[in-house]
Amino acid sequence: MRVRRQGASLVVDTPAKLNLFLEVLGRRSDGYHSLETVMVSVGLYDTLQFVPTATPGVSLSVCTSRGLGDVPCPVDDSNLVLKAARLLVERHLQTLGRDPFDTLENAGLPGVAIHLTKRIPLQAGMGGGSSDAAAALVGLNRFWNLGFASVDLHELASRLGSDVNVFLDSVPLALCRGRGEQIESRPLGRRYWVVVAQPPVGLSTAAVFRHWQPQAAPRCATPVLQMLAQGRLPDLQSGVFNALQQPAELLSDEVSQLLGQLRDAGGVVSGMTGSGSACYAIGQTYRACQTMAARLRARGGYWVGVMRCST
Ligand code: C5P
Repeated sequence: MRVRRQGASLVVDTPAKLNLFLEVLGRRSDGYHSLETVMVSVGLYDTLQFVPTATPGVSLSVCTSRGLGDVPCPVDDSNLVLKAARLLVERHLQTLGRDPFDTLENAGLPGVAIHLTKRIPLQAGMGGGSSDAAAALVGLNRFWNLGFASVDLHELASRLGSDVNVFLDSVPLALCRGRGEQIESRPLGRRYWVVVAQPPVGLSTAAVFRHWQPQAAPRCATPVLQMLAQGRLPDLQSGVFNALQQPAELLSDEVSQLLGQLRDAGGVVSGMTGSGSACYAIGQTYRACQTMAARLRARGGYWVGVMRCST
Protein backbone atom coordinates (compact mmCIF):
# COMPACT_ATOMS: atom_id res chain seq x y z
CA MET A 1 0.00 0.00 0.00
CA ARG A 2 1.36 3.45 -0.93
CA VAL A 3 0.10 6.54 0.92
CA ARG A 4 0.85 10.08 -0.28
CA ARG A 5 -0.38 13.64 0.25
CA GLN A 6 -1.72 15.54 -2.75
CA GLY A 7 -2.52 19.09 -1.66
CA ALA A 8 -5.26 18.84 0.98
CA SER A 9 -6.10 15.30 -0.16
CA LEU A 10 -4.63 11.96 0.78
CA VAL A 11 -4.13 9.29 -1.89
CA VAL A 12 -3.74 5.57 -1.21
CA ASP A 13 -2.81 2.98 -3.86
CA THR A 14 -3.66 -0.50 -2.67
CA PRO A 15 -2.72 -3.74 -4.45
CA ALA A 16 -4.43 -6.96 -5.54
CA LYS A 17 -3.36 -10.43 -4.36
CA LEU A 18 -3.08 -13.86 -5.86
CA ASN A 19 -3.40 -17.10 -3.87
CA LEU A 20 -0.65 -19.45 -5.05
CA PHE A 21 -1.78 -22.05 -2.51
CA LEU A 22 -5.11 -22.42 -0.74
CA GLU A 23 -6.10 -25.43 1.34
CA VAL A 24 -9.42 -25.61 3.19
CA LEU A 25 -8.86 -27.45 6.46
CA GLY A 26 -12.52 -27.73 7.48
CA ARG A 27 -15.78 -25.99 8.29
CA ARG A 28 -15.97 -23.94 11.48
CA SER A 29 -18.90 -23.57 13.84
CA ASP A 30 -19.25 -19.86 12.86
CA GLY A 31 -19.98 -20.80 9.22
CA TYR A 32 -16.51 -19.89 7.95
CA HIS A 33 -13.80 -22.33 6.85
CA SER A 34 -10.33 -22.81 8.33
CA LEU A 35 -7.69 -22.08 5.73
CA GLU A 36 -3.99 -22.33 5.04
CA THR A 37 -3.23 -20.03 2.14
CA VAL A 38 -0.22 -18.36 0.50
CA MET A 39 -0.91 -14.91 -0.87
CA VAL A 40 1.40 -12.87 -3.05
CA SER A 41 0.85 -9.15 -3.53
CA VAL A 42 0.74 -8.07 -7.20
CA GLY A 43 1.31 -4.75 -8.95
CA LEU A 44 -2.30 -3.97 -9.87
CA TYR A 45 -3.74 -1.18 -7.73
CA ASP A 46 -7.05 0.40 -6.79
CA THR A 47 -6.72 4.06 -5.76
CA LEU A 48 -8.60 5.79 -2.96
CA GLN A 49 -8.49 9.56 -2.82
CA PHE A 50 -9.66 11.23 0.40
CA VAL A 51 -10.79 14.79 -0.32
CA PRO A 52 -11.84 17.21 2.46
CA THR A 53 -15.41 18.54 2.18
CA ALA A 54 -17.05 21.57 3.78
CA THR A 55 -19.93 19.50 5.18
CA PRO A 56 -19.36 16.67 7.70
CA GLY A 57 -19.92 13.01 6.84
CA VAL A 58 -18.40 10.46 4.46
CA SER A 59 -19.39 9.99 0.81
CA LEU A 60 -18.17 7.50 -1.77
CA SER A 61 -17.93 7.69 -5.53
CA VAL A 62 -16.56 4.92 -7.74
CA CYS A 63 -14.90 5.14 -11.11
CA THR A 64 -14.34 1.79 -12.80
CA SER A 65 -11.50 1.57 -15.29
CA ARG A 66 -12.43 0.57 -18.84
CA GLY A 67 -12.63 -3.12 -19.75
CA LEU A 68 -12.93 -4.28 -16.15
CA GLY A 69 -15.91 -6.55 -16.80
CA ASP A 70 -19.62 -6.44 -16.09
CA VAL A 71 -19.73 -6.95 -12.31
CA PRO A 72 -20.92 -3.62 -10.87
CA CYS A 73 -19.17 -2.09 -7.86
CA PRO A 74 -21.64 -1.03 -5.13
CA VAL A 75 -21.53 2.61 -4.00
CA ASP A 76 -24.00 2.21 -1.11
CA ASP A 77 -23.40 1.08 2.49
CA SER A 78 -22.64 -2.46 1.29
CA ASN A 79 -19.31 -1.20 -0.10
CA LEU A 80 -16.51 -2.31 2.25
CA VAL A 81 -14.97 1.19 2.07
CA LEU A 82 -18.03 2.70 3.75
CA LYS A 83 -18.24 -0.22 6.19
CA ALA A 84 -14.60 0.43 7.13
CA ALA A 85 -15.31 4.15 7.63
CA ARG A 86 -18.33 3.35 9.84
CA LEU A 87 -16.33 0.87 11.96
CA LEU A 88 -13.42 3.28 12.40
CA VAL A 89 -15.74 6.10 13.49
CA GLU A 90 -17.55 3.76 15.92
CA ARG A 91 -14.24 2.80 17.51
CA HIS A 92 -13.17 6.47 17.68
CA LEU A 93 -16.43 7.50 19.40
CA GLN A 94 -16.06 4.55 21.78
CA THR A 95 -12.57 5.67 22.83
CA LEU A 96 -14.03 9.16 23.52
CA GLY A 97 -16.74 7.58 25.69
CA ARG A 98 -19.46 8.69 23.28
CA ASP A 99 -22.34 6.79 21.68
CA PRO A 100 -20.53 4.71 19.03
CA PHE A 101 -23.67 4.55 16.86
CA ASP A 102 -23.99 8.32 16.49
CA THR A 103 -24.22 9.37 12.82
CA LEU A 104 -21.05 10.02 10.79
CA GLU A 105 -22.23 13.65 10.45
CA ASN A 106 -22.39 14.06 14.25
CA ALA A 107 -19.06 12.38 14.96
CA GLY A 108 -17.23 15.73 15.02
CA LEU A 109 -14.79 14.64 12.32
CA PRO A 110 -14.07 16.70 9.17
CA GLY A 111 -16.15 15.72 6.15
CA VAL A 112 -14.50 13.56 3.51
CA ALA A 113 -15.37 12.51 -0.04
CA ILE A 114 -13.73 9.21 -0.97
CA HIS A 115 -13.12 8.71 -4.68
CA LEU A 116 -12.37 5.07 -5.47
CA THR A 117 -10.78 4.13 -8.79
CA LYS A 118 -11.27 0.41 -9.44
CA ARG A 119 -8.66 -1.38 -11.51
CA ILE A 120 -8.81 -4.73 -9.69
CA PRO A 121 -11.57 -6.91 -11.19
CA LEU A 122 -14.57 -7.72 -8.97
CA GLN A 123 -15.58 -11.24 -7.94
CA ALA A 124 -12.21 -12.35 -9.23
CA GLY A 125 -10.56 -13.76 -6.08
CA MET A 126 -7.96 -10.96 -6.23
CA GLY A 127 -9.04 -9.31 -2.97
CA GLY A 128 -10.03 -5.96 -4.49
CA GLY A 129 -12.84 -5.14 -2.04
CA SER A 130 -10.72 -6.28 0.92
CA SER A 131 -7.77 -4.22 -0.28
CA ASP A 132 -10.02 -1.15 -0.59
CA ALA A 133 -11.29 -1.73 2.97
CA ALA A 134 -7.72 -1.92 4.30
CA ALA A 135 -6.86 1.29 2.41
CA ALA A 136 -9.93 3.01 3.90
CA LEU A 137 -8.82 2.07 7.43
CA VAL A 138 -5.25 3.27 6.86
CA GLY A 139 -6.29 6.36 4.86
CA LEU A 140 -8.99 7.60 7.24
CA ASN A 141 -6.85 6.89 10.33
CA ARG A 142 -4.25 9.21 8.75
CA PHE A 143 -6.74 11.73 7.23
CA TRP A 144 -8.53 12.26 10.55
CA ASN A 145 -5.38 11.90 12.68
CA LEU A 146 -7.10 9.28 14.83
CA GLY A 147 -3.83 7.71 15.98
CA PHE A 148 -4.99 4.10 15.98
CA ALA A 149 -2.11 1.62 16.21
CA SER A 150 -1.61 -1.24 13.74
CA VAL A 151 -3.04 -3.73 16.27
CA ASP A 152 -6.31 -1.72 16.45
CA LEU A 153 -6.59 -1.53 12.66
CA HIS A 154 -6.00 -5.30 12.47
CA GLU A 155 -8.84 -5.92 14.89
CA LEU A 156 -11.21 -3.80 12.78
CA ALA A 157 -9.90 -5.39 9.56
CA SER A 158 -10.74 -8.91 10.75
CA ARG A 159 -14.33 -7.77 11.39
CA LEU A 160 -14.63 -6.44 7.85
CA GLY A 161 -13.57 -9.64 6.09
CA SER A 162 -11.16 -12.56 6.10
CA ASP A 163 -8.77 -11.06 3.52
CA VAL A 164 -8.53 -7.49 4.79
CA ASN A 165 -5.67 -8.00 7.29
CA VAL A 166 -3.14 -9.15 4.71
CA PHE A 167 -3.40 -5.80 2.90
CA LEU A 168 -2.70 -3.75 6.05
CA ASP A 169 0.85 -5.07 6.38
CA SER A 170 2.00 -4.53 2.76
CA VAL A 171 4.00 -7.77 2.74
CA PRO A 172 5.02 -9.21 -0.65
CA LEU A 173 4.33 -12.81 0.41
CA ALA A 174 2.23 -14.04 3.33
CA LEU A 175 1.15 -17.33 4.82
CA CYS A 176 -2.39 -16.82 6.15
CA ARG A 177 -4.27 -19.05 8.55
CA GLY A 178 -7.48 -19.02 10.59
CA ARG A 179 -10.23 -17.62 8.32
CA GLY A 180 -7.34 -16.05 6.39
CA GLU A 181 -6.87 -13.16 8.81
CA GLN A 182 -3.81 -14.49 10.70
CA ILE A 183 -0.80 -13.25 8.75
CA GLU A 184 2.85 -14.37 8.71
CA SER A 185 5.22 -12.59 6.35
CA ARG A 186 7.39 -14.99 4.29
CA PRO A 187 10.39 -14.35 1.99
CA LEU A 188 9.95 -14.11 -1.78
CA GLY A 189 13.25 -15.00 -3.46
CA ARG A 190 12.83 -13.19 -6.77
CA ARG A 191 10.56 -11.07 -8.90
CA TYR A 192 7.94 -12.90 -10.95
CA TRP A 193 5.82 -11.74 -13.86
CA VAL A 194 2.33 -13.05 -14.12
CA VAL A 195 -0.56 -12.83 -16.55
CA VAL A 196 -3.99 -12.78 -14.93
CA ALA A 197 -7.30 -13.23 -16.76
CA GLN A 198 -10.92 -13.26 -15.69
CA PRO A 199 -13.85 -14.75 -17.61
CA PRO A 200 -16.86 -12.46 -18.15
CA VAL A 201 -18.63 -14.10 -15.18
CA GLY A 202 -17.44 -13.46 -11.62
CA LEU A 203 -17.91 -15.92 -8.74
CA SER A 204 -19.39 -15.32 -5.29
CA THR A 205 -16.95 -16.36 -2.55
CA ALA A 206 -19.77 -17.64 -0.33
CA ALA A 207 -21.21 -19.77 -3.18
CA VAL A 208 -17.82 -21.33 -3.97
CA PHE A 209 -17.18 -22.18 -0.30
CA ARG A 210 -20.66 -23.76 -0.08
CA HIS A 211 -19.73 -26.19 -2.87
CA TRP A 212 -16.46 -27.24 -1.24
CA GLN A 213 -16.27 -30.91 -0.14
CA PRO A 214 -13.78 -32.18 2.47
CA GLN A 215 -10.86 -34.21 1.09
CA ALA A 216 -9.04 -37.09 2.78
CA ALA A 217 -5.62 -35.57 3.40
CA PRO A 218 -5.03 -31.80 3.43
CA ARG A 219 -2.04 -30.46 1.50
CA CYS A 220 0.64 -28.40 3.16
CA ALA A 221 1.97 -24.96 2.14
CA THR A 222 5.59 -25.67 3.11
CA PRO A 223 6.84 -26.86 -0.35
CA VAL A 224 5.44 -23.85 -2.22
CA LEU A 225 6.83 -21.46 0.41
CA GLN A 226 10.28 -23.05 0.05
CA MET A 227 10.17 -22.82 -3.75
CA LEU A 228 9.08 -19.17 -3.59
CA ALA A 229 11.84 -18.34 -1.09
CA GLN A 230 14.42 -19.98 -3.34
CA GLY A 231 12.98 -18.57 -6.58
CA ARG A 232 12.57 -22.05 -8.16
CA LEU A 233 10.08 -21.21 -10.89
CA PRO A 234 10.09 -24.48 -12.92
CA ASP A 235 9.28 -26.57 -9.80
CA LEU A 236 6.58 -24.24 -8.57
CA GLN A 237 3.65 -25.96 -10.32
CA SER A 238 4.05 -29.03 -8.07
CA GLY A 239 3.42 -26.83 -5.01
CA VAL A 240 0.69 -24.59 -6.44
CA PHE A 241 -2.77 -25.73 -5.32
CA ASN A 242 -6.25 -24.36 -4.74
CA ALA A 243 -8.91 -26.43 -2.96
CA LEU A 244 -11.58 -24.01 -4.21
CA GLN A 245 -10.76 -24.68 -7.87
CA GLN A 246 -12.94 -27.79 -8.06
CA PRO A 247 -16.07 -26.09 -6.62
CA ALA A 248 -15.42 -23.01 -8.81
CA GLU A 249 -15.18 -25.24 -11.92
CA LEU A 250 -18.47 -26.86 -10.90
CA LEU A 251 -20.10 -23.42 -10.80
CA SER A 252 -18.52 -22.10 -13.98
CA ASP A 253 -17.24 -23.94 -17.09
CA GLU A 254 -15.45 -20.71 -17.93
CA VAL A 255 -12.86 -21.32 -15.18
CA SER A 256 -11.79 -24.72 -16.64
CA GLN A 257 -11.70 -23.24 -20.13
CA LEU A 258 -9.57 -20.32 -19.00
CA LEU A 259 -7.12 -22.58 -17.16
CA GLY A 260 -6.78 -24.62 -20.36
CA GLN A 261 -6.16 -21.44 -22.38
CA LEU A 262 -3.47 -20.29 -19.94
CA ARG A 263 -1.66 -23.64 -20.17
CA ASP A 264 -1.95 -23.66 -23.98
CA ALA A 265 -0.66 -20.08 -24.09
CA GLY A 266 2.58 -21.29 -22.47
CA GLY A 267 2.20 -20.58 -18.75
CA VAL A 268 4.97 -22.31 -16.76
CA VAL A 269 2.86 -22.26 -13.61
CA SER A 270 -0.89 -21.72 -13.61
CA GLY A 271 -3.80 -21.80 -11.21
CA MET A 272 -6.95 -20.10 -9.96
CA THR A 273 -6.74 -17.36 -7.32
CA GLY A 274 -8.92 -17.35 -4.18
CA SER A 275 -12.49 -18.37 -4.97
CA GLY A 276 -12.06 -17.33 -8.64
CA SER A 277 -13.07 -16.57 -11.23
CA ALA A 278 -9.67 -15.06 -12.19
CA CYS A 279 -6.81 -17.42 -13.06
CA TYR A 280 -3.12 -16.73 -13.53
CA ALA A 281 -0.04 -18.03 -15.27
CA ILE A 282 3.48 -17.16 -14.17
CA GLY A 283 5.84 -16.65 -17.10
CA GLN A 284 9.63 -16.97 -17.39
CA THR A 285 9.90 -13.28 -18.36
CA TYR A 286 7.82 -10.13 -18.78
CA ARG A 287 7.93 -10.68 -22.55
CA ALA A 288 6.59 -14.26 -22.17
CA CYS A 289 3.68 -12.88 -20.12
CA GLN A 290 2.96 -10.21 -22.73
CA THR A 291 2.85 -12.92 -25.42
CA MET A 292 0.42 -15.00 -23.35
CA ALA A 293 -1.71 -11.91 -22.67
CA ALA A 294 -1.86 -11.09 -26.40
CA ARG A 295 -3.12 -14.64 -27.15
CA LEU A 296 -5.82 -14.39 -24.50
CA ARG A 297 -6.89 -10.93 -25.69
CA ALA A 298 -7.06 -12.22 -29.27
CA ARG A 299 -9.42 -14.95 -28.09
CA GLY A 300 -11.68 -12.21 -26.68
CA GLY A 301 -14.12 -12.13 -23.77
CA TYR A 302 -11.55 -12.03 -20.96
CA TRP A 303 -10.26 -9.22 -18.79
CA VAL A 304 -6.46 -9.63 -19.08
CA GLY A 305 -3.60 -7.99 -17.18
CA VAL A 306 0.17 -8.49 -16.88
CA MET A 307 1.62 -7.64 -13.50
CA ARG A 308 4.58 -8.17 -11.21
CA CYS A 309 4.88 -10.05 -7.94
CA SER A 310 8.01 -8.66 -6.34
CA THR A 311 10.01 -8.39 -3.16
O1 C5P B 1 -14.69 -12.95 5.02
P1 C5P B 1 -15.42 -12.56 3.80
O2 C5P B 1 -16.56 -11.63 4.08
O3 C5P B 1 -14.55 -12.05 2.70
O4 C5P B 1 -16.06 -13.90 3.24
C1 C5P B 1 -17.10 -13.94 2.31
C2 C5P B 1 -17.80 -15.28 2.44
O5 C5P B 1 -16.92 -16.34 2.07
C3 C5P B 1 -18.22 -15.61 3.87
O6 C5P B 1 -19.50 -15.11 4.15
C4 C5P B 1 -18.20 -17.12 3.87
O7 C5P B 1 -19.37 -17.62 3.29
C5 C5P B 1 -17.06 -17.46 2.93
N1 C5P B 1 -15.78 -17.71 3.64
C6 C5P B 1 -15.62 -18.90 4.33
N2 C5P B 1 -14.44 -19.14 4.99
C7 C5P B 1 -13.43 -18.25 4.95
C8 C5P B 1 -13.57 -17.05 4.23
C9 C5P B 1 -14.76 -16.81 3.58
O8 C5P B 1 -16.54 -19.73 4.39
N3 C5P B 1 -12.29 -18.54 5.58
